[in-house]
Amino acid sequence: MKNLLSIEGIDKGRFHALLNNSQAMLEIAQRDIKKVPALRGKTIVNLFFEPSTRTRSSFEIAAKRLSADAINIAVSNSSSKKGESLLDTARNLQAMSPDAIIVRHNISGAVNFLAKHLTKTAIINAGDGTHEHPTQALLDCLTLQRHFCIDGKKRENIEGLTVAILGDVLHSRVARSNIWAHGLLNNKINLIGPTTLIPDEFAAEGLFGDARIKIFRDLREGLKGVDVVICLRMQLERQEGFFVPSLDEYSQRYCLTKKIIAECAPNIVVLHPGPINRGVEISSDVADGDKSLITDQVESGVAVRMAVLLDCVASPTEILEP
Ligand code: NCD
Repeated sequence: MKNLLSIEGIDKGRFHALLNNSQAMLEIAQRDIKKVPALRGKTIVNLFFEPSTRTRSSFEIAAKRLSADAINIAVSNSSSKKGESLLDTARNLQAMSPDAIIVRHNISGAVNFLAKHLTKTAIINAGDGTHEHPTQALLDCLTLQRHFCIDGKKRENIEGLTVAILGDVLHSRVARSNIWAHGLLNNKINLIGPTTLIPDEFAAEGLFGDARIKIFRDLREGLKGVDVVICLRMQLERQEGFFVPSLDEYSQRYCLTKKIIAECAPNIVVLHPGPINRGVEISSDVADGDKSLITDQVESGVAVRMAVLLDCVASPTEILEP
């Protein structure tokens, strides 16, 4: 059984193979019959302890496109509401012989903890606390690969870019997984936001391996020379205490607007993992504008999750013919 728990520590070859296989999976979504038999007879469980629209449906669609049986456990209706521990819930699910359990949990480390105890099923991290969200980083990279290397044919690969991550980095698992991914790709990383949301330690040597990180407190400064900006939602549900004086004040300084892009980085492309808070971290004219790759990210998400499921559950020689 193979797990996918984090981008930190992922084998470089596996990372690139996942990206390349994801690219191949994109084609299946264009077919009339969007189904291949690769995971026929396999069972995939979506175990989500936090709200999710995109990630959960994306994993479910991915599993179904590969002909696996996919079930969703709505935790609000599950035995965890009766006091069952995470491990007991997961052990019971494992006893039903699923091939993979996809887990989202509000506690950092919860998914690694399960992976340590459940050895008969693949465990895939769909986001744990503020720790990691590996499939999000992969789908962000696939979106960039499509934009730079396929659609625009501007580059051979997505190495050597400067990537800005804007906003609530401290509470973001998307940011952490992307920092590891862009470190692996040898890209420069500009983190942009206030000290409360991006402490200076984020740029400390060795914290993210060899990743080349710079911190900017000023949005305009941070966007200079950047190829890509990843906007982050202000993750109020994970914040304990006050990190910004008010959302209004925050957006005055850090909301990504069309005007600022035109002024500082007219050639950038914009990513956002969703859900978007329009007018807080990103303005509608950017989210819906021609720099935005946000819906491409959602499309890439299904392809990435198909590739991840194949990698974790199928043998490498499975057939992908319709
Ligand atoms: C992200 C998450 O849950 O970490 N969303 C997602 O998976 N699409 C980001 C967020 O919630 O802001």
